[in-house]
Amino acid sequence: MSWQRMFQRKSIETLLAEMAGEHRLHRVLGPLSLTALGVGAIIGSGIFVMTGRAAMQDAGPAIMLSYCVAGLGCALAAFCYAEFASLAPVAGSAYTYAYATLGEIFAWIIGWDLILEYAMSCATVASAWSNYLNVFLHDVAGIHIPARWTTNPFDYTGGGFAMNVPAVLIMAVVTYILVIGIRESALANAILTCIKLGVVLFVIAVGYGYVNSDNWTKVSMVERRTPAESFVIPGMVKTAVEARDKDQQLTPEEQEEHVNRLVAMTSAAYRLEHIPQEVDRLQKLGKFDEAEGKRLIDENQKKYSPLLATDEADKKLVKETLEKVHAKVPETLTDKWGILGYIGLNESLTKIDDSVRSNFMPFGISGLMLGASIVFFAFIGFDSISTHSEEAIKPQRDVPIGIVASLVVCTFLYLAVSAVITGMVPYPDINAKTAVASAFSDRAKIDGNPVLRYSSLLISTGALAGMTSVLLITFLSQARIFLAMARDRLLPPGIFGTVHPKYGTPHISTIGTGVVICLVAAFTPIHKLEEMVNIGTLFAFVVVCAAVLILRVRRPDMHRPFKTPLLFIVAPLGIFVNLLMMLFLPIDTWIRLFAWLGIGLVIYFLYGMRHSIMSHEIERQLKSQGLSPTDAPLDS
Ligand code: ALA
Repeated sequence: MSWQRMFQRKSIETLLAEMAGEHRLHRVLGPLSLTALGVGAIIGSGIFVMTGRAAMQDAGPAIMLSYCVAGLGCALAAFCYAEFASLAPVAGSAYTYAYATLGEIFAWIIGWDLILEYAMSCATVASAWSNYLNVFLHDVAGIHIPARWTTNPFDYTGGGFAMNVPAVLIMAVVTYILVIGIRESALANAILTCIKLGVVLFVIAVGYGYVNSDNWTKVSMVERRTPAESFVIPGMVKTAVEARDKDQQLTPEEQEEHVNRLVAMTSAAYRLEHIPQEVDRLQKLGKFDEAEGKRLIDENQKKYSPLLATDEADKKLVKETLEKVHAKVPETLTDKWGILGYIGLNESLTKIDDSVRSNFMPFGISGLMLGASIVFFAFIGFDSISTHSEEAIKPQRDVPIGIVASLVVCTFLYLAVSAVITGMVPYPDINAKTAVASAFSDRAKIDGNPVLRYSSLLISTGALAGMTSVLLITFLSQARIFLAMARDRLLPPGIFGTVHPKYGTPHISTIGTGVVICLVAAFTPIHKLEEMVNIGTLFAFVVVCAAVLILRVRRPDMHRPFKTPLLFIVAPLGIFVNLLMMLFLPIDTWIRLFAWLGIGLVIYFLYGMRHSIMSHEIERQLKSQGLSPTDAPLDS
């Protein structure tokens, strides 16, 4: 078989002809359902969990600007998606588009990459779901599920076995609903989306009244949490405590309590050392005067001295751990610049960071951009509308409307919610797991306002509903992509292409993927997985922008029901902004992306390339003309 076949493209005419074939999905979705589908797929753990965490540890109040950057990258890609979706309204999303423009091998790479976006994002959302389940159960019945049953083993600070059980349960329910079928899923989604939209609007309307604008501009930049505190100290303390306590017969919960106590002590000791140095550095940079510097140091002394270790054994552990933390700090500083730090730009970029640093933007440009590449997760899902083109009643009109409308709605809601959270709570104190609900319940403790007391329950209900609808749609999109790949025989059709005779859903692939997602959600380090999902999706957006551009140049004559305005500016800018966000992700995420793509290529060469319908079809045509496979034209 010729290597040239890898670059074989599927013509748009072939895609459209395929749509006319039998065994297609039912066309049941109109513009409103598609927009609801988009909003249902978009608003989830990104806004309810990650926004707070990214504001607390990466961007500060400038998380609002991070949302602008991430929203811009998505809007540019969305216009490109919309043009493509109107051209090729078949299931498969970016996978199909790449097949039509760049060739089979690129289509495979994108299809494989989209598994990160869809299947793996389900795992991260399911994991976040269990955080809000805990808030919900606590508010309803005073129940608290122990951390070892709501956390993956990598993030659990206690000893012994740990897994995220609620994440597995919700994925099992979602898998069941999806096997039953699209109509039921669409109804379930519409209900869940209405609940979550209502709750998001409630958060904005009620939270607005509690915003204190001083929280955006007056929390001193020295208060920001450093990467050492957010990432390094917890891991090192856990290792040290485990080593120290190994001969004591502690229960996992006792060990968890020891670790958490020592993390707090070590962080306090770190702050007391770090803040005077930081004050000195920022004073020299002219960020504030000597009197202000002295006030900040005194304030922090008062706040953190009472938290220091008193017991000799604890003091020793804190001291030893801090020495190791200091040795690792230069590495963490390089890390925050993502891949740019590793190509030696961090020194000059840090100067820029320092010059723009302010109370509003305490982590500088690097924090703003890292925040953007994290909260980008909150926008993931609008493109899943394009995977439902085959179920759209009038795909050429409705899919572009659905994509653009849902993205616009969500961008406004996100900006408003992130302004409310950072306005209600000083960013260093934001709860990293349940930011939105905690902002309200903490306020209720201060005010005793009955509306606020019940709002935490309302918000956790909305968050659970929101994340469930994200799971339903995102998982559905994954099955659609597998279906498209199986139809092209790049994946085994017996597993990924079989549609249930009664329910009309790809049941085997749905159940198989559901099992894998459950395992990943239960046992893997979720923060790393989030970064993987983001880098994979950003990569897909870059390819879609490039593919639309290529197709405009190569086939300007094609009928385009939706044309991206100013494509020759929009597409290159889309490539630039999304690539920039990728660059701010850590180097280990890049390595994982390459490893993932490498595994995908091995599978392609072992299976897809040999079984692809396109290759077989061309071979058959060439043989009938008495030609050899190497004579195949590349541009068919
Ligand atoms: N955008 C989706 C969420 O935030 C994936 O949960």
